[in-house]
Amino acid sequence: MSEQIIIFENHLNTLKTQTLNNIKNANNPEELDSIRISIFGKKGQLTEVLKKVGNLSAEDRPKFGKLTNVIKQDIKSCMDDKHQYFERKQLEASLNLKKEDITLPTYFKSLGNQHVISQVISDITDIFSRLGFCVKEGPEIENDFYNFEALNIPDDHPAKDMHDTFYLSDGYLLRTHTSPVQIRTMLKEKPPIRILAPGKVYRCDADTSHSPIFHQIEGLLVDQHVTFSELKGILTFFLKEFFGNDKKIRFRPSYFPFTEPSTEVDVEFHTKKGPQWLEILGAGMVNRNVFRSVNYDPSKFTGLAFGLGIERMAMIKYNIPDIRIFYENDCRFLNQF
Ligand code: DAH
Repeated sequence: MSEQIIIFENHLNTLKTQTLNNIKNANNPEELDSIRISIFGKKGQLTEVLKKVGNLSAEDRPKFGKLTNVIKQDIKSCMDDKHQYFERKQLEASLNLKKEDITLPTYFKSLGNQHVISQVISDITDIFSRLGFCVKEGPEIENDFYNFEALNIPDDHPAKDMHDTFYLSDGYLLRTHTSPVQIRTMLKEKPPIRILAPGKVYRCDADTSHSPIFHQIEGLLVDQHVTFSELKGILTFFLKEFFGNDKKIRFRPSYFPFTEPSTEVDVEFHTKKGPQWLEILGAGMVNRNVFRSVNYDPSKFTGLAFGLGIERMAMIKYNIPDIRIFYENDCRFLNQF
């Protein structure tokens, strides 16, 4: 080995020992960086040594190359270790700074809950969906055709007076019941039909049991050979599911222009004065005239229909004496459901 290379080797070894020592003693990443510059920078100590390779003989150059590479690697890996050490320390420090007590219980924000009317609507649609009924919606602004005429309520019909209609301009009105959804559905679809149509309806009427806006659910089933006993079976099943098995119900003959025969269903309600029958829904077999107005052949199809008031169902189920409380947004009332 030539003398020159021995001198280089000694020099490089000293440089390495010094540098590793400096790295060990570095107190922060900035100090580490200035060590890096002092070794590998443009005028760094190792860079300067490398510049001298030109003075070496061709035989010594590869040995020199190998030597410097080993030393370069040693210094670099020592620096990487120290870098990681600083990163770890910084992370630990920042974790120690955050003094949250993770064992403290969470503050729960009140999320509110579904309005009792919406709950009753979904309870009812759930029960009917088990019988194959699907939900349909219709507009709240209707015209005379859908709300009355197609439902066999002509202009001069006394039943029209029962509805206390809010009329809008240009022949429009606020629907007085959800029955127009029957017409809209039948005009679009062919039997078999099994729909349930919940929604808001409007009547010019207000007291403890009447509100100018309230909710109804309409039901319609059209197919071949639909019978009145099917209507009774479906409604009995539904009312037992909704009110419980022990609630007494009765079917009473009634009249609606859009059904023939028609019936009203009452449930027994216990008051301070004793048991009382309360009417909760209207129903019947679809009137042939209704089928004619939607171009269904009445000799081929029969149907059953029913309509019920949601507020009334809720008032009976939960013993609520005044309809107005549903719309007052009093949380003490609403949170009970
Ligand atoms: N539309 C009626 C009302 O608002 C309720 C009703 C009765 C709907 C009988 C029906 C029915 O579908 O068959 O008073």
